Amino acid sequence: MHHFHQLKTTKVAKETNDSVHIAFEVPQNLRHEFAFKQGQYLNLRFFFDGEDLRRSYSIINAPSEGNSDLEILVKHLDGGKVSTYLNNELKVGDLVDVMAPMGHFYTNYHSSNEKTYIGLAAGSGISPVLSNLKEALFQEPKSNAYLFFSNKSLSDIIFKKEIDELARKFNGRLHVIYILSREKHFEDELFEGRISPEKLDLLFSRFTEIPVQESTYFICGPSEMIKGIADYLKNDRKVPSLQIMYEYYAAPDDEENAEMSDEFKAIPNIESMVTVIIDDDEYSFHLNSKKNSILDQALQEKLPVPFACKGGVCCTCKAQVMDGEVFMEKNFALTEDEVEKGFVLTCQCHPTTNVVMLNYDV
Ligand code: FES
Repeated sequence: MHHFHQLKTTKVAKETNDSVHIAFEVPQNLRHEFAFKQGQYLNLRFFFDGEDLRRSYSIINAPSEGNSDLEILVKHLDGGKVSTYLNNELKVGDLVDVMAPMGHFYTNYHSSNEKTYIGLAAGSGISPVLSNLKEALFQEPKSNAYLFFSNKSLSDIIFKKEIDELARKFNGRLHVIYILSREKHFEDELFEGRISPEKLDLLFSRFTEIPVQESTYFICGPSEMIKGIADYLKNDRKVPSLQIMYEYYAAPDDEENAEMSDEFKAIPNIESMVTVIIDDDEYSFHLNSKKNSILDQALQEKLPVPFACKGGVCCTCKAQVMDGEVFMEKNFALTEDEVEKGFVLTCQCHPTTNVVMLNYDV
């Protein structure tokens, strides 16, 4: 199981008016544990007025850049305690609780590949997309990348300077199109509005060299954007699902995620004895199947269970079912393969048998 470590900030710099670019130094003794893949994220933990607050932020760097610091971008959210603190109060040299990198938003690269990678990002969704595109360009000299990046205005474009420098550095292998939703700079609808299926139609009709069906897509932004684009690529453009990778900002907010789904209502109302294995220790507690999630109950029991988003998005609370059965309400993080192997997101799980055992150490 992953644990938090205190890392020192080496950079805290305003990126745009409402976002901050933060770098953490990884000491030599933690380099192995903090080795990362492009597109992964870091969980950060803060205690404000006794409240344990956790947030996950995608890593911006690419492993092949050779920078041992880990960099993230934090966008300020109105009313967000953690994002306000990080944007307004964090200083260089401060220590922050950080968990080793996690996440699956990546593909593996190979130097002999000749592929096309397409990044579709909105706002702060750029971080994991940029990390992936950079790694692809560093590792695959014969591959190309396209970045379609939407923001409200020119001054809101996150990492514009770095992206423009990368486009120069990779000399024709990285093509960048900025799309602005609240400003108009050219008499051309290509650069206006938001990323949508209609916009992609237009983009593909202009960039006719893009092999639409063979390309690999990295999508990060609001859930409606992700769903709309992923469906369009799969259904209208017949892109194989394995070539469409996406990362949610937060759990999609739609009817499937209503307070209590029909599937949840249908599970049996039972009392269960839940046992969890954490760092080789076993802890047991009673839980009614209709009440708390397994993670919430474990937290109430003051057990050291890992978590961050509590929304089925980040994967931090992953465990493997060793005995019994559970019902998982949402899953935006585990792969089909992991689910088949019995992995679950415990923040989304309720017991459906009288005895359940879960292992967090796997
Ligand atoms: S805590 Fe993020 S998926 Fe459960």
